[in-house]
Amino acid sequence: MNFDLKTLELTAAASEKCDLLIALIPEGFKPGKDALSTLAAQALKNGDLATKAGKSLQLYQAAGTAARRLILLGAGDGAARAVRQALLAVGGAIKAPQTKRVVVCFAGKAQAGAVNAAVQAVAEASYVYTTTKSKVEARALSRCVVGVHSAADVREAFDTGVALVSGVEFAREWGNRPANHATPTLLADAAKTLAKLPRIQCKVHGPAEVARLGMGAFLAVARGSEEPLRFIELRYSGAAKDKAPVVLVGKGITFDTGGISIKPAAEMDEMKFDMCGAASVLGVFRALGELQPDINVVGLIPACENMPDGRAVKPGDVVTSMSGQTIEILNTDAEGRLVLCDALTYAARLKPAAVVDIATLTGACVIALGGVRSGLFANNDALATALQDAGDTAQDLCWRMPLDDDYADGLKSNFADMGNVAGRAGGSITAAKFLQKYVGDLPWAHLDIAGTAWKGGAAKGSTGRPVGLLVQYLLNEAGATAGKAAKVTKVTKVTKAARPESAAAAAGAPRAATAKPASTRRTAKAGGA
Ligand code: BES
Ligand code: MN
Ligand code: ZN
Repeated sequence: MNFDLKTLELTAAASEKCDLLIALIPEGFKPGKDALSTLAAQALKNGDLATKAGKSLQLYQAAGTAARRLILLGAGDGAARAVRQALLAVGGAIKAPQTKRVVVCFAGKAQAGAVNAAVQAVAEASYVYTTTKSKVEARALSRCVVGVHSAADVREAFDTGVALVSGVEFAREWGNRPANHATPTLLADAAKTLAKLPRIQCKVHGPAEVARLGMGAFLAVARGSEEPLRFIELRYSGAAKDKAPVVLVGKGITFDTGGISIKPAAEMDEMKFDMCGAASVLGVFRALGELQPDINVVGLIPACENMPDGRAVKPGDVVTSMSGQTIEILNTDAEGRLVLCDALTYAARLKPAAVVDIATLTGACVIALGGVRSGLFANNDALATALQDAGDTAQDLCWRMPLDDDYADGLKSNFADMGNVAGRAGGSITAAKFLQKYVGDLPWAHLDIAGTAWKGGAAKGSTGRPVGLLVQYLLNEAGATAGKAAKVTKVTKVTKAARPESAAAAAGAPRAATAKPASTRRTAKAGGA
């Protein structure tokens, strides 16, 4: 899908030929003399429209407009949150098969964050998963024009929004793929395609190398599966070599049966989403490749299946992690922390400025926070605040959780340095305490995305979260060190030809810059946010 930003007020928007024109009408709307403004003003006056975010009035071939359909849409205070909420409220009309060209026009002055939010909301509403369907009804929407009072004022936010769409859709695609279409090997192949983007390199380690590194915990999880593990290492080099990188670590369990501590059958299919942390790291790199910020980032993905088998790790087995600490695996279903702890030890070797791990780690986090906010754990207040702020800006929210040492008490073991599980109470926190044993004094944060990475029920599918939060955090960091607010390097921007044209293409290779352009899981989740 193509996005375009245009200087376009309601007067000019009325003559844009399109299938759907959406006019965003904020509180305190001051109508001009043009046909659209007059319509909106009349509708407001008669109570047929309200400026509350999401309130709307639809018209067909309205007089004075070139659009086939027109939606006058209340945009609340006009901020990112309200604009997102409003556009998603009319998401059905955006996604409709007859909507190929849409124009979203801001009445009055558009806030930069709201323009970014509008781009993402249009993409989110129109997204369709197609990869494993035989009768493909692809996304109908091919072009979206965003009309604002002054395009120059919001260009940067618009570009960020467009790059984020690529990243989010890359993450959604890989999250949604069934586990037999998203094995550790295929995930590694997807990571390798990202290395076609400027400044990105990718290295993939196999079982032998992981054994050589001494990643006994990661190996223990992988041993129950016929699919070989992969340890994926992505590097984005946007700053001087000696500049310490931010390291992102994504849980990449491509299917979680629970292993010998096997899960119940109901909704086990949703455990294909157990690699959404990994998918979010891939999505972030996809966006970095387009945005080219001045920062160094490393992405680490321990990817494997968690399966029961004759060779699978058993409850009570003791393994030695890469850090040298031994672990009694009391529950093989607490496998995420096992693959992550070795990746965190590896991350520490890279002398990072900060480490952020992203994982669908605990059902307990779904119970604690539902599908609205991801769980945020951090041993460093500045890092926690930076991530929270980025989440607020990107409308990809998180909530800080505690890390008191008392929560680690339950991890004591009689047979190893630690067990891998404690009691049920505070389960998302004990999981975080386990991870904390592997980061020492490094500035570290852990995002538990078990509730936010996908939706269950009728709308089952991955959300692409928290790509928005992470990219915003990295842009802010790049801006802070450059002494300017979230500036992106324009010179090296990827050409249009380098961008995949569709969600399906997003799933595959981002084209090289030289290439030609292509044409009741638990009820807590069901239908959740
Ligand atoms: N991938 C799951 C976490 C999960 C479960 C996310 C349900 C979303 C919905 C993780 O590997 C897991 O199984 N965690 C266990 C930990 C327990 C054994 C301590 C859980 O949450 O039940
Ligand atoms: Mn598990
Ligand atoms: Zn898991």
